[in-house]
Parts: sequence; structure tokens; C-alpha cells
Amino acid sequence: MGFSIIGTGKSVPGHVVTNEMLSRFLETNDEWISSRTGIKNRNVITDETLLGLASEAAEAAVSDAGISVADIDMIVVSTLQGDFVSPALSCLVAQKIGSSADKVFDINMGCCGFVFALDLADTYLSAGKAECVLVVCAESLSKLVDWTDRSTCVLFGDGAGAVVLKKSDNKAEIITKIEGGYENLYIPGRMGNSPYAVKKDGSEYLAMNGREIFKFAVSSIVEDIGTVLENNSLSCEDVSYFLLHQANLRIINFSRQRLGQPEEKFPHNVENYGNTSSASIPILLDDLNKQGMLKKDDLIVFSAFGAGLARGTCLIKWGR
Ligand code: UT7
Repeated sequence: MGFSIIGTGKSVPGHVVTNEMLSRFLETNDEWISSRTGIKNRNVITDETLLGLASEAAEAAVSDAGISVADIDMIVVSTLQGDFVSPALSCLVAQKIGSSADKVFDINMGCCGFVFALDLADTYLSAGKAECVLVVCAESLSKLVDWTDRSTCVLFGDGAGAVVLKKSDNKAEIITKIEGGYENLYIPGRMGNSPYAVKKDGSEYLAMNGREIFKFAVSSIVEDIGTVLENNSLSCEDVSYFLLHQANLRIINFSRQRLGQPEEKFPHNVENYGNTSSASIPILLDDLNKQGMLKKDDLIVFSAFGAGLARGTCLIKWGR
């Protein structure tokens, strides 16, 4: 038993921020951002809510799947932070789209959230505890980065991507791993105002050692893709598309070169959206799906890396 992805959707905020716009208030420029990351634009929340984006992506995926919301019996939302600390964003999405699914929860696995959510959904589907799962990845990094720190804020964007999974005979191969630790990439938690807590100095925003994450990303992508293919007696040549977490075009290209594959098998849209954390792969998948690029029985690999340090790679067969 496994699953098929039967529908995809996405939603991004309307406000597009170009590299040139960033250079008006940061010591940066289009040349640096483009050449080091490939990023040109990102969408940033103004008056939208993350619930709104997540629900729009979810509704688009349900519509693409050609099913009714009533068919969904499980909802997993991947997010670093919803509009509220509590309730979970998934509970709000369920209400907003009119779902009465009873297995509903959030996961917080950073940029790997999509692959970890697929693994969770696959486990429920295989165990017979769900038949049709909605996975929504919704992220608002613009609220978590320091907009005075040019080394991080230029990299990220906001958005949501969603997929509908249905139980099928297509067995998915998924590997997830974590190294633990926070030093190279973290976002501090809320300090609160407890009169007893010993206050610590420090930024409340995302902090990252970009070079270390870069090295971790390329080595884990290459190793984990090799593992999922070997476990299935496949080679890179058998795979139609490798959809990597969209963080940096150089990471995508280094990984592709190490795997000896042509550019067209590593589609990317990081130039349009920046790094939208866990939403990046489902947004890319939706772009490819809506462009009619995916054919039945295509083998597709998803591979992500991020805070945790976490990594996740998944091999699926495309088909409805
Ligand atoms: O989803 C997972 C999250 N994270 C990632 O995927 C990040 C992975 N890492 C990366 O993508 C890259 O390491 C970065 C894009 C973050 C940085 O690229 P880099 O080539 O590793 O640059 P660097 O950090 O070594 O910085 C090089 C220089 C520094 O100046 P000095 O010390 O050489 O004078 C930085 O201060 O570039 C400077 N710099 C900038 N200059 C203009 C850093 N940010 C900027 C900027 N504009 N926005």
C-alpha cells in the first residue's frame, strides 16, 4: 500500500518584493542576491493571513483532485508558526474549508515539513487509519526574519502549497533523518513575561550559518537520493524530476552536478518565490502540475533539508 498525489494547489501573497526594492533599505544589490542564490523576487504578506493562504492552497488542491472536502479524513499542516501559537493552524484550516476530518494536526519540521508530512500521511494511509489526506505547507518567514539583517532576510518569502493524497498501490519510499542541534539554524521562542524567568539577551529572529547549511544541504541531498534509488534498484536516469527544497539555486545546481543529471530534470522556481521553507516543494509541484509537465507513472523525487538539522527524501510515482 502507498499513496498517489491526486491534486495540488498553492497560494502566495500579492505583494512582490524585488531585489532592487531590498537594496533601498539594505546594503545589498540584485547582483549579489542573484549570483549567490538565484533569487529575484519573493512574495511577502501585507494584510493577508497565513490561514487565508493555507486555505486557498488547500481549496485549490481539493478542486484539482476533483473530490469533495467531505472526502478528506485527515489534515496535516506544516508550519513554523501559524497566525496563532494556539490553536493549531490545521484546526483553523479545517473549519475554513468546511472539513469535518477528525485527524487534524500541525507539524513543525522547518523546510523538511513537506517530506515529514508525507511520511506521516503514508503511515496513516497504510495503517488503514485514513483514506484521503490533505497536506498543507504554509509559511510566513517574513514574520520570522530580521529585516535589518541582509544575510538572511533577502533569502525568504511567504506562501502555501498543498497536496491531496489518496491511498493507492503506488508505494512511496521515504527517508527522514535528523542530526539534532540548533546552532546553525534557529528561530528563538517567545520570551513571555514571567517574573521568574531569567532574561537572556539576544535576537528574537531567525539566525543561520549559511555556509554550514549549504554544505549540509548538498551532501544530504546527494546521499539520500542515492539511498532511495538504491533501495528501489533504480538509478537517476529512471527519475523524471528531482524537486529539491527551493532555498538556493547554487545548492540545486551543485546537487544536480554531483548526481550527473541534466538541468531540465531539476526544475526550480526559487527565482520567483525565494525560500518558502516547507511550502517550497509543494508550490513547485503545483507549478509543474498546472503547466502539464507531469505524466502518469513519472518517477519524482522530493528532497529537503533544514533546521533540526533535518533531512527528508521521498520517491513517488505520479498518477491519479
Ligand atoms: O532552508 C534552509 C535555509 N538556509 C539555506 O538554505 C541557506 C544555505 N546557504 C546559502 O544559501 C548561502 O550560504 C548564503 C546565500 C546564505 C550566503 O552565501 P555565501 O556565498 O555562503 O556568502 P557568505 O555568507 O560567505 O558571505 C559572503 C559575503 C560576506 O561579506 P565578507 O565577509 O566577505 O565581506 C557577507 O557579509 O557576502 C556578504 N553578504 C552580502 N552582501 C550583499 C551577506 N549577505 C549579503 C547581501 N548582500 N544580502
